[in-house]
Amino acid sequence: MAPNTAAFFTGVQAPLEVRPADSPKPDANEVVVKAKAVAINPVDYAMQIMGPSVFKWLNPPCVFGEDVAGEVAEVGSAVTKVKAGDRVAGLTNTAFQHEVVIKEHLLIPIPASLPYENAAVMPLGLSVAVKGLFHKDFLNLRLPSLNAKPAGETVLIWGASTSVGSNAVQLAAAAGYEVITTASPANFELTKKLGASQVFDYHSPTIKEDLISAFRGKKSPGAFCNGGPAPPTHPPVIAACKAVLQATDGRKFLALTMATPPGEMPEGFISKFVSPLEGDEELASAIFGEYLPQALTAGKYMPTPKAKVVGHGLESIQRAMDTLKQGVSVERGHRPDAPLRGSPHRFLLGAVL
Ligand SMILES: NC(=O)c1ccc[n+]([C@@H]2O[C@H](COP(=O)([O-])OP(=O)(O)OC[C@H]3O[C@@H](n4cnc5c(N)ncnc54)[C@H](OP(=O)(O)O)[C@@H]3O)[C@@H](O)[C@H]2O)c1
Repeated sequence: MAPNTAAFFTGVQAPLEVRPADSPKPDANEVVVKAKAVAINPVDYAMQIMGPSVFKWLNPPCVFGEDVAGEVAEVGSAVTKVKAGDRVAGLTNTAFQHEVVIKEHLLIPIPASLPYENAAVMPLGLSVAVKGLFHKDFLNLRLPSLNAKPAGETVLIWGASTSVGSNAVQLAAAAGYEVITTASPANFELTKKLGASQVFDYHSPTIKEDLISAFRGKKSPGAFCNGGPAPPTHPPVIAACKAVLQATDGRKFLALTMATPPGEMPEGFISKFVSPLEGDEELASAIFGEYLPQALTAGKYMPTPKAKVVGHGLESIQRAMDTLKQGVSVERGHRPDAPLRGSPHRFLLGAVL
C-alpha cells in the first residue's frame, strides 16, 4: 500500500490539511481498511467550527470522520469475520485518511453489487438507529430478520427522511413492527419504500392530532424521537412524540437522537439520549455483521441516505463539508419557506485513493 495520507484538522475554523500520516497498526480486534469512499456528516463541520472546547476528544492536529467504505487491507490477530481483500463499510472516528482502523464489530461486509460510495453513507446514521431501536436500554425492539413475523406493535419514528430515520424505518419494519413516521411530502414515496405504513407531513399544524389519530387502537413500544439537524426545531418534535405516546397504549419511552433536553416529562415517561453504537459488541455484530450483509445481498435493505459524490481525493472533503454546511434544500425540493435546511444526501468522495 502507498504511504498513508490524511486530511488533518489543525485548529478551529482552519481548512483541513492533506498531508502524509503514520500508517496505523490494528489492535487484535481491529482491521485496517483501505478507504475507497468516505461520507461527510453534519457533526464533521460542527467539529471544525467548534473544535475541542465542545468536542473534548479533539486534539489537533488530528483526523476525524465517521463513515468509510473500502477494502480490508490488514486484520488484527483476533479478527475472524473478515479477511484481507473483503469489501466493507464501517464506523470509526478517524475516517478521513487512506488507511482507516475500524473495530471488527463495527464493520458491515458489503456485496460486490454495492458501490463503495453508496455503502459509505450508512454507518453513523445506521448506528444511531440500531442503538435507539434495539438496545436493551432504549426501545429494546426485537431484532430484524429477512422474514420477520409481525410484532403486533406500532412504533413512531419521527424524521424518516433523515439519515438516522431512514435507517430506523427500514430496521423497525424488518423487525416486524408497523412504522408510522413523518417527512416532507416530497419524501412520502421514499418513506413508503423504506417500509413505513403511514407518513405525515411534520410541517402540518395538525401533525400531533394526525399522529394521535393514526395510533388509535394500536400498541406502541415507545417513540424514536428524531428531528432534523436544526436544534431550535426540536422542542415541538419532542412535544409531539410525548403527546402521541400519552394518547397511545404501550410503553412511554422516548429514544431521543437529538441532544436537546426533553423538557418536563409526564409521570411514568422515560427519555434517553441515543449515542451511536460503540462498545455494544453483541448488538453491533448482530446487525452490522449478520443481518445487514444478508439483507443487502438479498436487495432487502436500501443504503440510505442517497449518496452524492462531490469529488475525488482527500482534498475534496473540505469542499464537501462546506457544501453540506450550506444545505442543499432546494435540490431536494424543500418548501422555500421551510425553517430547516438539510438533505438526505450525504456528501462523499468517490475513490479517495
Ligand atoms: N445521537 C447521535 O449520535 C446522532 C448522530 C447523528 C445525528 N444525530 C441527530 O439525529 C437527527 C438526524 O440527523 P441526520 O444527520 O440523520 O439528519 P439529516 O440526514 O441531515 O436530515 C436532513 C433531513 O431532516 C429532515 N427534517 C428537518 N427537520 C425535520 C423535522 N422537524 N422533523 C422531521 N424531519 C426533519 C428533512 O427532511 P424532509 O426533506 O423530509 O423535510 C431533511 O431532509 C439530528 O437531530 C442529529 O442531530 C444524532
